[in-house]
Amino acid sequence: MPQDQPLSAVSPVLHELRAGTHTRHVALEKRLPFFSDTLDLECYKRLMSAYYGFYHELENRLQHSPWMTHGFDLHARFKTPALRQDLQALGVRIQSLALCAALPVLHSPASVLGVLYVLEGATLGGNVLRKQISERLGLDAHNGCAFLYVYGADTGRQWKAFMDFLGSAPLDAQARGEAVQAACSTFSCFEQWLERQEVLL
Ligand code: HEM
Repeated sequence: MPQDQPLSAVSPVLHELRAGTHTRHVALEKRLPFFSDTLDLECYKRLMSAYYGFYHELENRLQHSPWMTHGFDLHARFKTPALRQDLQALGVRIQSLALCAALPVLHSPASVLGVLYVLEGATLGGNVLRKQISERLGLDAHNGCAFLYVYGADTGRQWKAFMDFLGSAPLDAQARGEAVQAACSTFSCFEQWLERQEVLL
């Protein structure tokens, strides 16, 4: 996770989110099978099906949360449509997929921001993952690998816009703590869900 901006350009909340979730990111990255010798099409289908069960439920929760923050176009950033498109292209029956019930609790605007940080940040590794899946499985955005590179060439711009949005939120130390706690909970809920779906290494 390169973090090459000068510290002055990093808002306090982003700095705390990075520091607070770094270990969890490294741990989850190691357990995901994208670079494993055992990765095949069946394994990828099961992995994306598990992603769907989490993203679908979490985006739904965000959409209906009274704490959903103004000035953020959640719909434009939904990733579930790309996952649905991939699963359909891969011939997976979406209606029968398991859905995750144990999600991070949204109890304040800051907790929503913490969850959004994880979902938006997760797009950053997408280009590496997309190349890997293209080389290993021959998939691209049209036949099963749209989600991993969901913003395409706009990834950097979308992330910059999100960082600006995050940095403009008026968060005191307590609210920043809530954001970090929600981000950590998002990582652990996701990891536990993937573990239960038996898709981790
Ligand atoms: C094998 C899988 C993964 C790889 C290889 C990976 C790789 C990366 C890379 C290279 C970056 C930094 C990009 C940059 O600074 O330009 C990044 C950032 C990030 N990733 Fe991942 N990632 C993976 C999985 C995930 C998952 C599953 C999540 C969460 C659901 C996640 C959440 C984040 C977040 C929140 C950041 C932003 C860190 C920051 O700059 O503040 N990543 N990832």
